[in-house]
Amino acid sequence: MKLSAVAILGGFAAFVFAAPAPNSYVMHEKRSVRNEKWSRRRDIKLNRDAIIPMSFGLAQRNLENGYDFLMDVSHPGSKNYGKHWPMSKSWLMESGIESERIILSKGRNWFKVNVTVEEAESLLKTQYHVYTKVQTGKDHLAYDEYSVPIHIKEHIDFITPTIHFNATVKQMKQRRDLHTREMKVKPFTNIHPGNPDAVPQPDVTYSLANCDQYITPECLRALYNFSNGTLGVSSYGIVEYTPEAYLQPDMNLFYSNLARQIPAGTAPINDLIDGAIVQTTTQSFDDNGEADLDLQYAIALVYPQKVILYQTGDMVEGASFNNFLDAIDASYCTSGGGDNPTYDAIYPDTASGGYNGPENCGTFTPASVISTSYGYNEADLTAAYETRQCNEYMKLGLAGTTFLYSSGDYGVAGNSGQCCTKAKCAGGTYNSGSSGTFNPSFPATCPYVTAVGATQIKPNTAVTATAPEEACQTVIYSGGGFSNVFAMPSYQSSAVATYFKSHKPTYSATQYNNSQTVRGYPDVSANGANYVVAVDGSLTLVYGTSASAPVFGSIITLINEQRVSAGKSAVGFINPTLYANPPAFNDITSGGNQGCGTKGFTAVAGWDPVTGLGTPNYASLLSVFLALP
Ligand SMILES: *[C@@H]1O[C@H](CO)[C@@H](O)[C@H](O)[C@H]1NC(C)=O
Ligand SMILES: *[C@@H]1O[C@H](CO)[C@@H](O)[C@H](O)[C@H]1NC(C)=O
Ligand SMILES: *[C@@H]1O[C@H](CO)[C@@H](O)[C@H](O)[C@H]1NC(C)=O
Ligand SMILES: *[C@@H]1O[C@H](CO)[C@@H](O)[C@H](O)[C@H]1NC(C)=O
Ligand SMILES: *[C@@H]1O[C@H](CO)[C@@H](O)[C@H](O)[C@H]1NC(C)=O
Repeated sequence: MKLSAVAILGGFAAFVFAAPAPNSYVMHEKRSVRNEKWSRRRDIKLNRDAIIPMSFGLAQRNLENGYDFLMDVSHPGSKNYGKHWPMSKSWLMESGIESERIILSKGRNWFKVNVTVEEAESLLKTQYHVYTKVQTGKDHLAYDEYSVPIHIKEHIDFITPTIHFNATVKQMKQRRDLHTREMKVKPFTNIHPGNPDAVPQPDVTYSLANCDQYITPECLRALYNFSNGTLGVSSYGIVEYTPEAYLQPDMNLFYSNLARQIPAGTAPINDLIDGAIVQTTTQSFDDNGEADLDLQYAIALVYPQKVILYQTGDMVEGASFNNFLDAIDASYCTSGGGDNPTYDAIYPDTASGGYNGPENCGTFTPASVISTSYGYNEADLTAAYETRQCNEYMKLGLAGTTFLYSSGDYGVAGNSGQCCTKAKCAGGTYNSGSSGTFNPSFPATCPYVTAVGATQIKPNTAVTATAPEEACQTVIYSGGGFSNVFAMPSYQSSAVATYFKSHKPTYSATQYNNSQTVRGYPDVSANGANYVVAVDGSLTLVYGTSASAPVFGSIITLINEQRVSAGKSAVGFINPTLYANPPAFNDITSGGNQGCGTKGFTAVAGWDPVTGLGTPNYASLLSVFLALP
């Protein structure tokens, strides 16, 4: 930062400065190595009234206590339920900085506030100095160390301007595998592919009587006992990775057949991340099926709530979950080492002709609920990489966002039905799936997301809010099992203990981690078979936990609509509340999730690693969440 930019005199009203007692402070950061490129200017005395534009990033590292913090705002028994962070803001306010002066970044994870040198030094128990960059003669404001109150230390990552001098990022370029979408297709053979005017065959009537063959928004409302949205006060985000893209004509075809209350032309709000485009140049089921499915059902179920599409990545590199998280949280971009060039896209892309602008860093606001139907095998990535990303879901949960991920479509096997050749899936070597070690899915195994598995209506059964479904065994099998990376979170320990006590699976410890100390997934489930979706101009049947996750997210979005209109916060991280209220679910007690040459696990009474707690009963879930503060 140039000194001239710092020296603007502010027009702020005087305020009473009442910081907590100094002895409650702890050192937050200290510069350990002198940087020879910068020299301290002892000749410049800072004007005490000069204004420093400060930014406070919500912590990514120092999250050892993160789980407790998250439970504090997410556990239904907590007095702080729903009081989502950032607490760094309350510290500033307690310190006498008026709320109007504090501006929350678009990404909700940075605060910006203009403070005087005097205020800054008092807040951080430090002294600012001017440093000059030897090479260029440019001045920069920094201090050698600074402190923050003990109770704030865990909540903030770093504060700028601080001890950091402008670090430069090294560019590396390399291709990596794209995630496999959690979806499979079976064409709807009554429709001629490629005909944009395709309509259902006259002998196909979409009605509650044939939901066992054709799932529509109306079927889902009957199954889970909810009705459409009315108020439009909550937000719902769907993430897609370029080149996957929705087509507006497909949206319109879907509305005209299956969601007639929605006007043609209704589209999501497109948040384009890292040079993304909603491409229309290549059209195929692989290019459009996932996005069409996710957005048609999300919009049909939550309308008139706004649906935000987070279209992520350019056409050349494509992007990863970390690139998306960077775009909604500036403090994630660099903390803990930042992105990993092996797995994440690095922008600007100067090497391979992709997006050449700066990567989006906290540019976009996280929606209250965010659903993603893409996943890796846990064994594709390193545990350190997964832990860093999982902690970010914890942090965003603390700030009030619900993250849903589909649990996978291959039962106990991994993407494309592959299983591991080594114990604990070490090293990511896979076989074709007829034997081997169970292959769990990430981020579904991260304990800070809600993992959604798949069910189906029992064939020849009428759809009602009370008729039980079974685990999905048509085309796909619900992803589920136990993590090789993440420990069991306390919110599910009793549910998992009951499962092992009453229904201990017969598999050995070489097939999956049966220690009862690791995270089990999925958490919940929703229908994943026979979805009628408009893709590339025709109505097609689609299967997968890809469908289940956006449907479950729609129900949470409708619950948020009711909470917000009752003057309450959005629900944020929901798992502790879900596990504390099993009666709010339709328990699924039949079917299994075969894979790796086994029958997989079996759906049983109570939680199971096939369908989790079961499918949602909206009316019950709503009353649970409305009863919370
Ligand atoms: C370095 O500092 C300059 C001037 O304050 C700023 O414009 C630039 O964005 C900074 N670069 C990095 C990588 O932080
Ligand atoms: C700080 O002051 C600058 C210059 O007046 C202004 O552009 C900026 O918006 C202010 N920032 C905040 C957070 O008020
Ligand atoms: C809700 O559903 C009813 C009946 O299906 C329909 O008439 C109404 O237009 C819908 N309202 C919204 C906002 O979608
Ligand atoms: C299961 O997980 C626990 C906890 O991480 C670990 O100590 C144990 O070694 C794992 N067991 C196997 C067989 O991998
Ligand atoms: C469905 O929801 C309504 C309230 O909208 C409730 O009265 C009814 O009991 C619910 N039905 C079931 C089967 O849960």
